[in-house]
Formats: sequence, C-alpha cells, structure tokens
Amino acid sequence: MVKKLVIGFSDSPHSMLLAKNIAKLAKIDFRPIKAKKFPDGETNLRFSSDVKGKTVYIIHSLKTADDDINNNMMKVIFAAYNAKSLGAMKVILVAPYLAYMRQDKRFHNYEAISSRIMATLFNRCFDGLITFDPHLHRYKSLNEIFTINAKRLSADRLLAEYIKKTYKKPIIIGPDEESYQWARDIAKMVGCPVDILKKHRYTAESVRIKIKADLDLKDKSVVIIDDMISTGHTMMEVIKDARKLGAKKIYCVCIHGLFVENAYERMRKLGVKDVVSTNTIENKANKIDISKMLAEEIKRN
Ligand code: R5P
Repeated sequence: MVKKLVIGFSDSPHSMLLAKNIAKLAKIDFRPIKAKKFPDGETNLRFSSDVKGKTVYIIHSLKTADDDINNNMMKVIFAAYNAKSLGAMKVILVAPYLAYMRQDKRFHNYEAISSRIMATLFNRCFDGLITFDPHLHRYKSLNEIFTINAKRLSADRLLAEYIKKTYKKPIIIGPDEESYQWARDIAKMVGCPVDILKKHRYTAESVRIKIKADLDLKDKSVVIIDDMISTGHTMMEVIKDARKLGAKKIYCVCIHGLFVENAYERMRKLGVKDVVSTNTIENKANKIDISKMLAEEIKRN
C-alpha cells in the first residue's frame, strides 16, 4: 500500500496547525515543508523528509493571513513540482479555500477567466484536489474546469449543526439567488424557514439588495448565510435591510471568511450579534472546524 504523507508550510502557522491536526485525526504522518522568502521576495521550499513513492497531501488554504493569494498559489505549485521531482507517487492539493472561482466568465471585454487559468495550472501539477464549497455558480461542477479528480466537500451540515445548537427559532436569509443552494439545504437541516433575496453587484465594492415587501422579519432572529464574506458589502446591505424590517437579532454565518477591508469589524459595528465562519481561512470568526471532515476524506482518498 502506498504511504500517505501530510505536509503544511512552515511559514504559515494556520495551515501548519490545520495540517497537523488533520494528520493526527487521519493517523497519517505529518511533515512541515520548510518555506522561506529570500530578500528579493523569491520563495525557497524544502521538504523535511523523503517523499519518494508516497502520496503527498499538501494542505494549504489559498487565502492566508501571511501571504497573498497569488503567492500561496505559487507555493503550492512549487511544492507539487518539487514533490514530483523527488519521486512522490501522487500529489494531492487540499485547499480548504479555493481562490479565483468567482471569476467564472468574461465579465468585461478581453478580461481573463481566471478560474479556468487557475484550474489549468493545477491540472498540470496535481493528481487530485480536495476543497470545501468552491464557488460554483456558472459552473455546475468542478469537472467543468478540472481534469484531475477534484472533490468538493460541503460544510453545510456543520453550519446547520452550529445554527441549530446556538440560535433560537431562526429564519435563514440568503442574500442572492446563488445562495439558494446552500441556504435552502441548511434551513432544511435546521428545520426553519428560509428566504432568498435578489442582489445586483455594480463593482467589487458596490452591491444593492432588493428587499421583498412581504418579508416578515419583525422581532425575528435572522441568520444571514453566504458561501463567503469578502468585503462584507453583501452582508452589510442585508443587515441594514433586516434592521429596517424590525429584526430583533441578526447573525452572519459563512463558510469562507475572507474579511477584506476590515469587513469583520465593520459588520460588528452594525450591531450584528455573531459573525461566524469555518476555519477554511484563518480569521476572528473561526467557530466551525472542518478538520475532521478533511481527515475522513484523506483517509478514504
Ligand atoms: C457572490 O457571488 C458570493 O456568493 C458572495 O455573496 C460574495 O462573494 C460576497 O462578497 P462581498 O463580501 O465582497 O460582498
């Protein structure tokens, strides 16, 4: 049987911790890959043990506190090529958060469809991919862009369990049509009502939500759910509308908390009771742990 090895980058504490924890839960060896930057910004990587003949799982979120998305992509690509050239049997990328998936069409003339480019690069250097709730909107499945075995895990059940045990009699709101898939499934698991709003995005920083006239939120506990919170503008629009409609308590729950431009703090300032995310990306809202699901998937893989 081929031996499995889990690795995490030494310069990214969150990824290291996640990788170590997953390896422990899956009862698989863990080794750090030593990563450092030269003064000019170039990355230097070195495995801390032999990878020959092994299936190597590189665990790394593509959005981290310590590096930008493009650097993280280069790190996993360099690590994959290095593993292959050292004789690894297979290299699997475990990216709890898969970046670039929202750029799934040419929104403007001559614009890059970055999700396809990202997938083309990953198809070349990995034998497989495991990720959580990738942003599937115009693509219905990862197979539309990945030729390698790409596994999509979903944190919906974990979110539902958290909501069920933490909030009393909630009503779930999805901010836009895209959120229908997860908001509906989670509401079903929680056993509570759900409503989906309409959103129009003008720019990355400007969105408008169309509020429904008949939406009854008076004195209710409203849980706004989205797959990701980036600038927080989507959430903030819904928070304001829910307030106008008389919501008593407002909670924001997402899978991937990117929280750029101080989104977390800005949302808290609007009086939101709780902002929650999974730990696919390190942030202040990490309250739902995905390690166990990843460990089980790696054991099965
Ligand atoms: C959009 O398609 C996604 O599902 C999220 O609604 C969106 O990415 C959130 O972005 P932001 O926090 O910047 O409004």
